[in-house]
Amino acid sequence: MQQLTIALSKGRIFKETMPLLAQAGIRPLEEPENSRKLILPTSREEVRLLIVRASDVPTYVQYGGADLGVAGKDVLMEHGGEGLYEPLDLRIARCKLMVAGPVEEVPPHGRMRVATKYVNSTRRHFARQGRQVEIIKLYGSMELAPLVGLADCIVDVVDTGNTLRANGLEPKEHIADISSRLIVNRASMKMKHEAVTDFIHCLEEAVRDHG
Ligand code: ATP
Ligand code: PRP
Repeated sequence: MQQLTIALSKGRIFKETMPLLAQAGIRPLEEPENSRKLILPTSREEVRLLIVRASDVPTYVQYGGADLGVAGKDVLMEHGGEGLYEPLDLRIARCKLMVAGPVEEVPPHGRMRVATKYVNSTRRHFARQGRQVEIIKLYGSMELAPLVGLADCIVDVVDTGNTLRANGLEPKEHIADISSRLIVNRASMKMKHEAVTDFIHCLEEAVRDHG
């Protein structure tokens, strides 16, 4: 039987992917929250899960460390999608990539400074508008940057808007609707065609049922 290795991150994506995998008969034998293991065996002997950082999922799949993966569209836009197929929108972990800034806007003196972990998407967004901005790379807690004068605004994902509101910020511009996608290594799609396409069909059905 062909082995399948699926990369995904713990937390939100793991929790929301499990009901879909369950419909394909795949249940992890351990929970990532209770285990230090990074390779989790599942109820299907030929399927295993790799627990990686959300932003590393495309890299594992691109280089064949995993055959398949689950990654947010925000992460895929940033990665560029090289060496990957993206056959299925899983419609989970839905949010929006947005520009956000202080409710009380202060016009910037020189070039606008934008703090974000989404450097490539941010550059593309402002370039499309013909605006030159200075991008400051952060790895998290972006909402803090405008509060301490590090940046004029941020680019981050927004769901309920609670995090923005709690920090005196508001959404300013919509960049993209985000949900998590199934991604597939190009070589695995050829070499393990039957196992991979069967798996995609099972998930397609699960997504439809969870619709
Ligand atoms: P990393 O560990 O690589 O920094 P992360 O901390 O962003 O990743 P998560 O917070 O688990 O990882 O987010 C995983 C994905 O879930 C994101 O890439 C995004 O697509 C989506 N997401 C992030 N925040 C929200 C949210 N508040 N509501 C819904 N979906 C979200
Ligand atoms: C994400 C993101 C925002 C927040 C947006 O962070 O970086 O800070 O969620 O969600 P909201 O609009 O619903 O407030 P993170 O995953 O760390 O936070 P969470 O788990 O609390 O959503």
